[in-house]
Amino acid sequence: METVIVNVTDDNQDSEQIREKILAAGRIIKQGGLVAFPTETVYGLGADALNPQASRRIYEAKGRPSDNPLIVHISSMEALEKIAERVPEQARKLAEKFWPGPLTMIFEKKELVPLETTGGLETVAVRMPGHPTALALTEAGGGFIAAPSANLSGRPSPTTAKHVAQDLKGRIPMILDGGPVGIGIESTIVDFSEEIPMILRPGYLTEEMIRNVIGTLRTDPGLKTENPRVRPRAPGMKYRHYAPKGELILVSGAGEKVREKINELARKAGEEGRAAGIIGTDETRGEYRYGLVKSIGTRADEDTIARRLYGILREFDELDVDIIYSESFSTAGIGQAIMNRLLKAAGHQIIEV
Ligand code: TXA
Ligand code: MG
Repeated sequence: METVIVNVTDDNQDSEQIREKILAAGRIIKQGGLVAFPTETVYGLGADALNPQASRRIYEAKGRPSDNPLIVHISSMEALEKIAERVPEQARKLAEKFWPGPLTMIFEKKELVPLETTGGLETVAVRMPGHPTALALTEAGGGFIAAPSANLSGRPSPTTAKHVAQDLKGRIPMILDGGPVGIGIESTIVDFSEEIPMILRPGYLTEEMIRNVIGTLRTDPGLKTENPRVRPRAPGMKYRHYAPKGELILVSGAGEKVREKINELARKAGEEGRAAGIIGTDETRGEYRYGLVKSIGTRADEDTIARRLYGILREFDELDVDIIYSESFSTAGIGQAIMNRLLKAAGHQIIEV
């Protein structure tokens, strides 16, 4: 299958031209096809969420396990009422504060949503994305777009159209290129299908930001343990994920000791003839003496780290490194989501110094 990459940024185009392109993408979705598109978090791979055959195509294109449910993207509150059985008051408050934006909420589903979209579950995950292209495509595609991140299953989520093409070129008919995303890490998922709301996936919106709006909030205990018998509640959180091709090892501890350890490990890897990559920060990159050193951003603004996280893993893939050593980050605020993704990408390999 030929994959067309369509530019939807406003350089040298007027809004009418962009609108035409998005309408064409919407027609592909309405006919049951797949379109990758930018959101403010990561690129998504969209299909008509109410069409079981279309949802099946998403699983096929990504190589995704069929028990891993999809997020349904909407562009209005009326759409939410059509697919969610019961929307608690607290969820409405969150929607008012954070939608459109990087928040996904889970509700009991109505009949209208096929089990193919929810991975066989009686609940549905819903998000109103904050990116204008994502909202426009949702409308043009019929109002309900099922969209996981637009990567092959297990690979780092895409934050540019080029990343999407690396994984899905030849497997889908269209990629809308809206340039690099603003956030770089997926939405925060809050489950409202049971009595007490629960965070199932940390994301750009922090626990504190959500608790400030709704008060009571729990975090899935399955996220915080490595005990394989305690499974995370979001099926997608149980798989090794976001993984680069090379092995990834995190080093955690006091700053200077971490740098010493990484230097030592990278030197040894070099001596063994293995190509090593190092993930440092703007503050520390100058202190590494071995291997290929890259900065993931500045500790003074951790949003920069979130934005570059998946891209840096893909860059090391292109450089064919055998092993990547990375600094660790504090788990306060957005750091919680950053460390969640890094730990998963590393298959939980972490060295404490
Ligand atoms: O920011 C995002 O959320 C991006 C953009 C494209 O919107 N989407 C995204 O989708 O990250 P995906 O499929 O990569 O991750 C969805 C996560 C998975 O871990 C899945 O298991 C969980 O949401 N999920 C979806 N529906 C669920 C449900 N009904 N119950 C529990 N977990 C659910
Ligand atoms: Mg994903």
